[in-house]
Amino acid sequence: MKKMTLDKILQKQGFGSRKECQALIVGGSVRLNDQVIESYDNYLEPESLGVLVNDEHWVCREQVYVALNKPTEFECSRKPTHHPSVLNLLPPLFSRRNTQPVGRLDQDTTGLLLFSDDGIFIHQQSSPKYRQPKTYEATTDERITPELVSHFLTGIQLKEEPSPIAALSCNQLDSHRIEIILGEGKYHQIKRMLAAEGFHCKSLIRTKIGRLRLEDLHLAQGQWCFLSEAQLLLLAPPQH
Ligand code: URA
Repeated sequence: MKKMTLDKILQKQGFGSRKECQALIVGGSVRLNDQVIESYDNYLEPESLGVLVNDEHWVCREQVYVALNKPTEFECSRKPTHHPSVLNLLPPLFSRRNTQPVGRLDQDTTGLLLFSDDGIFIHQQSSPKYRQPKTYEATTDERITPELVSHFLTGIQLKEEPSPIAALSCNQLDSHRIEIILGEGKYHQIKRMLAAEGFHCKSLIRTKIGRLRLEDLHLAQGQWCFLSEAQLLLLAPPQH
């Protein structure tokens, strides 16, 4: 990252407008290496710079890559209609730097949801072109049948879709639970595929994206974490 003055660094990280960040610095709210910084004349290297703003520690990053264990009752929209936005589960600074959910989960779906402010990453994770596998566990009211599993694999015709859609993989987990891997994410896709076969989806969890497993992140529902380089590698889309 190119060197910048501290007010600009803080602005880019989402601490507020340039003026608000200057006021934070001049007002003595910003510390660097345990020292209050009251001027913003010096040019600094922003990447990995650790700052303390109003006693909160922040490591500067050019882009952010975040995973959340989404609870129910949150919508994946910036302008939610019936429930709060998932963005409310992250510090406000993320929204100010235009961090967005990567794709969408229904308000009653739980599990792995990514966020980023990197447009290329968002596109690679969510565009059907890349067929990034997304793994779900669905619990149904009805008993799972071998026919259901086989129809998921051969393709299920949904209304308003030109041709049947097949899962990348499908396995029965127990009498009422099924694991489904999709290579695209159409609106209510799993619920609609189950409904087309006469099944009602009682609950739905996204357990994995690419090779990144929710379980390995050890996040309680509603908790989030930054993704490490190694975890980002697990999200590299499959090669075509
Ligand atoms: N399929 C659904 O029906 N809902 C989701 O949230 C994700 C996949």
